[in-house]
Amino acid sequence: MSAGRDDVVLQTHGLVKRFGGITATNKVSLTIRRGARHALIGPNGAGKTTLINQLTGVLAPSEGRVVLCGRDITTLTPHKRVALGLVRTFQINQLFNSLTPLQSLALAVAGRRGSAHRWWAAMGSDLGLATECEQLLVQFRLTDFADRATSELPYGKRRLLEIALAVAQKPSVLLLDEPAAGVPGAERADILATVAALPDEVSVVLIEHDMDLVFSFARSMTVLVNGTVLTEGTPEQIAADPQVRAVYLGDSRAGGSPAASSQAQDFAPLRRAQYHG
Ligand SMILES: Nc1ncnc2c1ncn2[C@@H]1O[C@H](COP(=O)(O)OP(=O)(O)OP(=O)(O)O)[C@@H](O)[C@H]1O
Ligand SMILES: [Mg+2]
Repeated sequence: MSAGRDDVVLQTHGLVKRFGGITATNKVSLTIRRGARHALIGPNGAGKTTLINQLTGVLAPSEGRVVLCGRDITTLTPHKRVALGLVRTFQINQLFNSLTPLQSLALAVAGRRGSAHRWWAAMGSDLGLATECEQLLVQFRLTDFADRATSELPYGKRRLLEIALAVAQKPSVLLLDEPAAGVPGAERADILATVAALPDEVSVVLIEHDMDLVFSFARSMTVLVNGTVLTEGTPEQIAADPQVRAVYLGDSRAGGSPAASSQAQDFAPLRRAQYHG
């Protein structure tokens, strides 16, 4: 894959978001390329979620621009951005809770195809719709749970369904804000492995605090601190970066903040990645 301009799917130019006196993102410029497995990391309050909210259109930036596949989308509604292929996971709401995963997926796929008003009838007659739902169930290992009430699914399966519903929108960029949060041990890695296995047509931006997951998933990373991009690079470059070490270890000699030292336990995989990388 070449790394030319044509590969760029999502770009931000100097995104600033102010909340009163707080600058939550400070001139953040990001470039996401086709097929990206990009992690956005940084301490609590770094501005990661605020950045994602500006990408999706939930928050209007104070300054700066968002460009999707060459088109300026800074002022578009969240709904229009989804239609253009910029999709985030949405937490399963009450409606989806009362449906089965198969029904939820059928609704999502039919909605994308503009036939949501007759989605359930279409399940019986539209082979394409049924096949696509079946594929999503297999891809996200939900087949055994397809006909259960979503409210009864194990938590890890609910998170997988959330991602499957986002993928049903056929995103060119998928934004995941802590998709494995609250999911127990081994299942966490399963969720990220499923996302990593998506085709190159889906570029992924992941926010995650668990460095084991981050380093097994990401091929590129941005480190955000106090709303500002501290550095970007490959996982190997990030793991070896003294500034990043300072932030995660709270090493005052290198300018790390004391607040970040409470997250020092997160740093162990970073050390491992460095030794093995
Ligand atoms: N709606 C809001 N109004 C005021 N301040 C906000 C708002 N949303 C976020 N902030 C502030 O902006 C800063 C960045 O918050 P944000 O939630 O983006 O951080 P984060 O990197 O996602 O943190 P975490 O890892 O804890 O999820 C914080 O200081 C937060 O208190
Ligand atoms: Mg957050």
